Amino acid sequence: MYTNWDELESDCKSCRKCGLCETRTNVVFGVGNPKAKVLFVGEGPGENEDLQGEPFVGRGGQLLDKMLAAVDLDRKKNIYIANIVKCRPPKNRDPLPEEQKACTEWLRNQFALIRPKIVVCLGRIAAAKLIKEDIKITKEHGIFFEKNGTLFMGTLHPAALLRNPNNKPGAFEDFLKLRQKIDELGLES
Ligand code: URA
Repeated sequence: MYTNWDELESDCKSCRKCGLCETRTNVVFGVGNPKAKVLFVGEGPGENEDLQGEPFVGRGGQLLDKMLAAVDLDRKKNIYIANIVKCRPPKNRDPLPEEQKACTEWLRNQFALIRPKIVVCLGRIAAAKLIKEDIKITKEHGIFFEKNGTLFMGTLHPAALLRNPNNKPGAFEDFLKLRQKIDELGLES
């Protein structure tokens, strides 16, 4: 395990543990404040993220930033955003189980150094990996699951909300619940 964030980031950025390293432009390590109490986890970089080296910078990312701002959260200040896999799967396919497995150690180390009180899983892939394998994200979003002193909540993926805007109000409720939980636990005081 790592004890130093910069070392972790630098090693991750030269990772060659799975085939995705052959096709990536940039490793997308994450963005935000490593001292944040809230960690967001997505699935993996898309095209824009691969090109820019930062998570959620496309249209989905703009929507995410809006929902964050509505509950006083900011990717540069009071949260950290990472992904299950750090390199873009070709044509944005789902990351393969072996790619997820190879990459998990990076996220595990990020988690161990951040020590978040709340983890928000963006979409089914992250929620299945971090909450429970058979999670039904459309039914179980917004529910807090406690695991070893950390609360985990799944919400709909921003890209899914762009495809199906009818689900936006439900997802927004999740962000309100998150704000309520942050305040209840006094995480920002
Ligand atoms: N989708 C994700 O799950 N993560 C990103 O970083 C971008 C899009």
